[in-house]
Amino acid sequence: MRAVRLLDAHQLEERAVAVTGERPWVDETARAFDLVALEYDRTNRANPILEHMRRRSLAMLRRHVPPGAELLDLGCGPGTDQQELVASGYCVTAIDASPVMVREARRRADASGGAHRPTVLCRSIEQLGKFQPASFDAAFSNFGPLNCVADLHDTARQLRLALRPGGVLVASVMGRVCPWEVALFLCRGQVGRALVRFRRGLVGVPLKRGTVWTHYVTPGAFARAFESAGFAQRDLAGLGVVAPPPYMEAFAGRNPGAVERLLAIDELVGGWPLVRGMGDHFLIVLQRI
Ligand SMILES: C[S@@+](CC[C@H](N)C(=O)[O-])C[C@H]1O[C@@H](n2cnc3c(N)ncnc32)[C@H](O)[C@@H]1O
Repeated sequence: MRAVRLLDAHQLEERAVAVTGERPWVDETARAFDLVALEYDRTNRANPILEHMRRRSLAMLRRHVPPGAELLDLGCGPGTDQQELVASGYCVTAIDASPVMVREARRRADASGGAHRPTVLCRSIEQLGKFQPASFDAAFSNFGPLNCVADLHDTARQLRLALRPGGVLVASVMGRVCPWEVALFLCRGQVGRALVRFRRGLVGVPLKRGTVWTHYVTPGAFARAFESAGFAQRDLAGLGVVAPPPYMEAFAGRNPGAVERLLAIDELVGGWPLVRGMGDHFLIVLQRI
């Protein structure tokens, strides 16, 4: 396995200034996602753990955002949530930094047709400031796009401007404490891999032949970044606390009944104190005040 590369945000910023004046980790991450974009939807759909987590994120979104809302999907990927978002009555604008993901999401939007066809833009989360102020009622970010930004405080400030007063963000974000992951890799003697989520700054996570620059974060730190920009936390739940993480799909295939029961328990206890701070991802809802 390739070594995990580590750079903190200011080292990257320095390299960025020296090389291109842009943010190279965004481009590198986008290129990594380009490489998986064509198979992403199919492999996600075939993974029962991911499907269960996706159902829970969308249910949380519907609990906090009424139909008819203008919704910004941050890091939409190939549009895997698109159909469900439109069916829920949202008017969707979606952005992603990966051109191939955007092409797939547009193809999916064209195929769905209809008056409520989502608008899909090739734009990074760092470019939220390009939207007119108060353009959206809500934002949604599913399965970790917000882990790929180096400066959550800046994202929170930009998102606050893009949202109308009272607007909410519903996000699933990769957390630091994933009990299954720690146990799995410690049992295999891979201490570095077991503790990778505890590292600070951006961590280079291999994906195919690319690198996804990932910033693991606790729900507390994530909420504080948004609270300091004028948001208040409204909801929190752990995803994948007692159920295994999605990359254990082979284990899920061998033990479908057991994993189904664990997923049901996960859903039951995900919002409990302590438990909600853990998991492969956490689901968080923040409201612009
Ligand atoms: C794990 S995928 C999740 C995709 C989709 N939300 C889903 O639920 O399947 C993460 C997505 O975030 C996008 N992404 C990563 N960093 C980004 C950034 N800085 N700005 C916009 N999109 C980004 C990637 O290109 C990728 O499509």
